[in-house]
Formats: sequence, structure tokens, C-alpha cells
Amino acid sequence: MELRIGFLGFGNVARAFARIISEREARIADQFDLRLKTNAIATGAHGCIVSAEGFDLKQALAAVERGEALNTLPGAVDAVDTTGLVAMCDADVLFETTPLNPIDGEPATEWIRKALLRRMSVVTANKGPIAFAHKELTTLAREVKCSFRFEATVMDGAPIFNMVESCLPAVRVTGLAGVLNSTTNYILTGMERGRLFEECLTEARELGVAEANADYDIDGWDAAVKIVALANVLMNADATPRSVERRGIRYITSKELKHASDTGALIRLVARAEMLPSGLKLAVGPEAVAISSILGSARGTTNALILETDLMGELAVIETNPGVEQTAYALLSDLIAIHRELQLKKA
Ligand SMILES: NC(=O)c1ccc[n+]([C@@H]2O[C@H](COP(=O)([O-])OP(=O)(O)OC[C@H]3O[C@@H](n4cnc5c(N)ncnc54)[C@H](OP(=O)(O)O)[C@@H]3O)[C@@H](O)[C@H]2O)c1
Repeated sequence: MELRIGFLGFGNVARAFARIISEREARIADQFDLRLKTNAIATGAHGCIVSAEGFDLKQALAAVERGEALNTLPGAVDAVDTTGLVAMCDADVLFETTPLNPIDGEPATEWIRKALLRRMSVVTANKGPIAFAHKELTTLAREVKCSFRFEATVMDGAPIFNMVESCLPAVRVTGLAGVLNSTTNYILTGMERGRLFEECLTEARELGVAEANADYDIDGWDAAVKIVALANVLMNADATPRSVERRGIRYITSKELKHASDTGALIRLVARAEMLPSGLKLAVGPEAVAISSILGSARGTTNALILETDLMGELAVIETNPGVEQTAYALLSDLIAIHRELQLKKA
């Protein structure tokens, strides 16, 4: 089967995904009977292009990595902007990886809505649309008989949403606690080793794990949007990031980290969803956690999530030192899931 794919955003995550599918083209064709043709790429500053015949993905990667505009690619038709591209492109699956907007999830939510209405399936790594419009977008996808998948939005390629959906039928998730933001964990771990906040942040940016606006990491917005996405999808909540009690790590000092370690603890930015008699409480903030605990085991970019459930007790997922390739893998796993659904429909 051939699937036409398009990119909304062609930054760290999308390019890592493009590299994976270019380098494994033959394996993906052999193992899954899946061939991919890229016929749309939208960026912020490198142009928005479509082509009915398809682009050479390696050429597109090279052009953006040289800082060149994409409209020099052979066969490129200028779509002017992302909204124009969504209206004119003809893809089977769009990969939405534009920057996070933790205030209202826009404009990505509107692009996804429009893409679904044009009967294109969507895979997103952007947690904004899940925090603000998960129910609406999944309902719309069902109505138009397309797929909307978002495994990459929390803990990259580690299966969280797919694990609960596919492997834990009838289980109710009753609470969540996690270290979900790689940038802040990388900074805290570095500071514990005597390094400076700013130098650790620079390295997190170089690793490609920091948000385009790293204030969203440092001030806890990214973790807040993630706990909302998790609660909305796994606990059927109807929260937005504004409902989260949120504190970041901007003012954590080396002295506080040292004091915690003297008492057998580490300070981690912990996101929690707790069912209280008064309702669902969502919070993000620095907490002292025991070094020997699951959350205390998270060092560097490592993420850890504990799910409290009714039938399976506590389950923990740990993703050790993920980089941007693990986020890209989530896009591939969602693509293969969509391909399998299409194969089943055809059978
Ligand atoms: N990096 C990670 O490890 C990671 C992990 C999980 C989830 N995510 C999420 O994945 C998404 C992408 O992350 P990233 O690290 O790839 O970000 P990034 O490197 O900053 O890339 C963002 C991309 O979006 C493009 N863009 C900006 N404004 C746009 C617009 N109006 N229309 C179309 N494209 C636009 C940028 O184009 P220009 O460069 O031309 O401006 C760039 O290609 C974010 O939502 C992030 O939260 C990232």
C-alpha cells in the first residue's frame, strides 16, 4: 500500500522522523507492505510547499538543514502558508509537529480540525491540541472515518496512550504521577552535579528536547499540558492547563538540591492527577522524592510515569534518557497503526 504523507512543521521531531523513514524505506516496505510519498511540507520560516508527484524527502531534509527555503525543490508548488497548505494538499496522513502553545493550543488545533474535515488522518506530537480539544478531535476523526493519534505528546515513543488503549481493556486509571519534562530534569540533574542552570539548558536545547520557547519547560507549562492531556485521555477529564496548580523550577537553588540530597531525596518536577472527594486535582511543582523511589530514579532526560489503576494496581513506565529519535519513533508507531487500520478496512 502507498500512503501520501505531509508535514505541518519540519523541525527537530519531524526531521528525525523523516530520517528514520528515509533510512528504513526498504525495511518498512518489506515488513509492512508500506510505501510513503511525501507531498506536503509546511514550516514557519522555510516555506510551505505541495507537490502531487511527491518530494524527495532527503532533498527536503538537506535544504532545511542548510537553512534554505523549500520552494527550490523540484516540483514544489507554493502553498503560501500552513492554512493554505492544509486546504490544498492531498495527503492520507499529516504529521503535525508545530510548536506548543500552552495558552489555547492554537493554531495547531484548527489545522488538525481542517485536515480531518478534508478526510486526512492526523498524527501529532503537539500536546496543545490534546489538552484543549482531545474529545472534539477524536469525535470528529470518528465521524469522518479517519484516524487521530498522538502517542508522541507524552513520554515520546514510550507507549502510554496505546498501552492503555490496547493492553489494558476495562482498566480504570484513577491517578497519575510523573516526571514528564526532560529539559527540567536535565537541568536539575546537572545542578545536582554542580553545574550551572544556564549551561544545562543550553545542552538540553542542543539535544533537541527543549521547547522552542524553553520558558514553557522551566515554568512548568509543558508538564502541565502533559498532565492535562493524560487526565483528559486516560481519566476522561475535561481539564485545560489553566486548571493545573503550576510551579516550575526557575527559582530552585543548588542549596535546596544539596539539602534534599542530604536527607536521601532529590528534587524533581512532578506532575500529578489525583481524584479527591472535591474532584480531580491537577498539579505540577518541584517535590522532594526519595532517591530510591521510581520518580527519584529519573536522571538526565529520563521520564517516569506511575499510573494508579483499579484492576492493575500501580504500573510504572520509565523511558531512559530519551532524545528526539524516540519522539520520532512515536510518529512511526502511530503511522503503522493507521496503516494497519487501513489494511483491515480494505480486507
Ligand atoms: N523535541 C522533543 O523532544 C519533543 C518531544 C515530544 C513532543 N514534542 C513536541 O513536538 C512539536 C515539535 O517539536 P520540535 O522539537 O520539532 O520543535 P522545533 O524544532 O522548534 O520545530 C518546530 C517546527 O514547526 C515549524 N513552524 C513554526 N511555525 C509554524 C507555522 N506557522 N506553520 C508551520 N510550521 C511552523 C518550524 O518551522 P521553522 O523552523 O521554519 O520556523 C519548525 O519546522 C512541539 O509541539 C513539541 O512540544 C517535542
